Amino acid sequence: MTQRIIEITSPTFLPEQQLDPPVDFAALFGNDNPLALEIGCGIGDFIVQLAAQQPQRNFLAIDIYNKGCYKTCRRIDTTGLTNVRVMRIEARFLLDRYLTMDSLDAVYINCPDPWPKKRHRQRRLVNREFLKTLLYYLRPGGELFFCTDFADYAEQIAPQLLSLTEYQSRLPQLPGQLPEDYPRSKYMRRFLEQGQPICFLHCSKRESCTSGPHLLAPVSPGFRTHWSTLQHG
Ligand SMILES: C[S@@+](CC[C@H](N)C(=O)[O-])C[C@H]1O[C@@H](n2cnc3c(N)ncnc32)[C@H](O)[C@@H]1O
Repeated sequence: MTQRIIEITSPTFLPEQQLDPPVDFAALFGNDNPLALEIGCGIGDFIVQLAAQQPQRNFLAIDIYNKGCYKTCRRIDTTGLTNVRVMRIEARFLLDRYLTMDSLDAVYINCPDPWPKKRHRQRRLVNREFLKTLLYYLRPGGELFFCTDFADYAEQIAPQLLSLTEYQSRLPQLPGQLPEDYPRSKYMRRFLEQGQPICFLHCSKRESCTSGPHLLAPVSPGFRTHWSTLQHG
C-alpha cells in the first residue's frame, strides 16, 4: 500500500526542487552561525529541544519520511524556533549534492534504522565509508554524535571510528552512556523507560585534519540512496 504524501507548506520546510546546489545556508538563515545536521529526525522531538538549547547554531533536520518531516515542521513552527530548517532527503544524497567541504559544525544521528537481521546489516546507514564521508563535510573540530538502542550497531561503529585517525573520541570509552543534557526523543525515552540502555558515541574531527578530495569517498549506491532518484513529494 502506498502512503498518501502530505503536502508541507511550512516556511521551515525546504523543498529540494527549490534549491540550487550548493546551498547557501547563511543566506537561507540570514546569518552565518555554524550549521549542524540531524540525519533521520523522525518526528522532530530531538531537534526542537536541541535547537532551543543552542540558539547560536543553525540546524538542518532531514528525513526521508514525509509524515515525519511534516510533524517536525509543525513542532518547529509551534515553538517559534527560527534556527531550524527541514528537508525530505536521503542523507548521502544531501551531502553529495548540496553540502560543501568543512560546512558542518556537527552531525547528529540518533537511533538510525538498526536492520537487526544479519543479512540486512549492509543496509545500515553508518559504516566505515559513511564515517569517512562525514569527515569531508565536518569542519576541523566539528563533532559527530551517534546513539542507538542496538548495542550491536554501536559495537560495530566504535572500532571503525577509532580506526579512522582523523577522528578523536570525546569520551573515555566508546561506546559510552547518554549524557544527562543530551535531548531525548520519544523513541529514546521509550527504551530508557523500559530500562534498556542507549549506547552513545561522541567524537570530533581533529583540528589538525585538513579536508580535501582525499576524504571525499564516492557516494555508494547504498540502500536507500536510490530513493533520491525516485519521484517523491
Ligand atoms: C528509527 S527512526 C529514529 C528517528 C529519530 N532519530 C528518533 O530518535 O526518534 C530512524 C529515522 O531515520 C530515517 N532514515 C533512515 N534512513 C535514512 C537516510 N538514508 N536518510 C535520511 N533519513 C533516513 C527514517 O525515515 C526514520 O525516520
